Amino acid sequence: MSSSQGPQSPKGPESPKSPNSPGGKAASPEPNPAPPAIVALSAEESREAGILPGAHWTEQPIEQVDDDGASTIGSVASTTASLTSSIFEYRTVHGRTYHGDIGNAESWEPNDQRHVDSMDIMHHTFMLSLGDKLFLSPLEKQKIHKVLDIGTGTGIWAIDFADEFPNAEVIGTDVSPIQPFWIPPNVKFELDDCNREWTWNEDSFDFIHLRLLIGVVSDWSNVFRNAFRCARPGGYVESLVTSTYFHSDDGTVKKGSALEQWHNIFWEGGKKLGRTFRVIEDDLQKKAMEEAGFVDITVNDIKIPVGTWPEDKRLAEIGLWWKMAAESDLEGYLNYLCNVLLGWTSQETAAYCAHVKKEWADTNIHSYFWLRVVYGRKP
Ligand SMILES: C[S@@+](CC[C@H](N)C(=O)[O-])C[C@H]1O[C@@H](n2cnc3c(N)ncnc32)[C@H](O)[C@@H]1O
Repeated sequence: MSSSQGPQSPKGPESPKSPNSPGGKAASPEPNPAPPAIVALSAEESREAGILPGAHWTEQPIEQVDDDGASTIGSVASTTASLTSSIFEYRTVHGRTYHGDIGNAESWEPNDQRHVDSMDIMHHTFMLSLGDKLFLSPLEKQKIHKVLDIGTGTGIWAIDFADEFPNAEVIGTDVSPIQPFWIPPNVKFELDDCNREWTWNEDSFDFIHLRLLIGVVSDWSNVFRNAFRCARPGGYVESLVTSTYFHSDDGTVKKGSALEQWHNIFWEGGKKLGRTFRVIEDDLQKKAMEEAGFVDITVNDIKIPVGTWPEDKRLAEIGLWWKMAAESDLEGYLNYLCNVLLGWTSQETAAYCAHVKKEWADTNIHSYFWLRVVYGRKP
């Protein structure tokens, strides 16, 4: 299902939280203070973190592979000139927009249509990666009455879940009003910052779902403490995150390559933002669920190739979809991190994107990352 941006999101960014909102919320907390000003990483900090300077990517030659397989060498500075100016034009004419701040909920992802479209493609890739499933928790359909999807994005998961569970009420929350307004009657969307104390009543939800909240959650323990309080006894919580670290079992992701640099950019950007991308590496989902009191915690690690390099047809299809999803707005995924947090120019970010795309297109580079799905039950 695709989703178009819905101007009629239930609440505007400035709307106060209603204590009587339909989702059964308790009292509103005080608004959060304004976010601290972000200062970009210095050249020295970048070097210490192992991040190659942005200028590196504009200076590197890039091999162009055209449709008939012939290759030519050019410099990225020249090959990305049109790319750069088109991005510049997009920004100045259409702009890359980010959500209106609620409290200190600063988001690294744009919320414009190009990014919304990318999130919807990403939903399909998650479905494929999970074997055409919306979740892995062992839910019993007749026991699922109320469901919460935190950081719902375009709401596409919430909508699909509501279609599959027509007797359940599904509430999707986000800081950005990017959800569609043509939705099944059993879905609602609300603006809410998951990093603040949750105001839902305790013991309210049979299933709480959190997908791809890397760089979003400021304190994973706090989020799962809230989830524990708001879950019904017997209810499940499920969290899915991807790693930003590209592996290759045969050493084809080379040191100093664009893919090898990818995690450095996200990890350092996450430090600056105060919202980590090292969720798998620091095992935060399981630790936070255990601390909160969830039991029967199950961890599923799924290997995700990017590109069509795998010989296995199903894996090659998954790899193709992840590549398409990321490339549909690669600049959007990197814009804030590179330009604002690392202090790169738009041209440098565009050049880096060109190198990433080239490496994903190269079937001799066997890159993959991990997707981790963790679920647990409230006793
Ligand atoms: C990568 S998207 C994932 C969207 C959705 N969960 C999915 O998997 O399709 C992350 C979402 O988190 C939202 N977000 C960012 N900061 C947030 C916050 N503090 N509270 C709630 N949502 C937030 C963003 O607006 C974005 O829609």
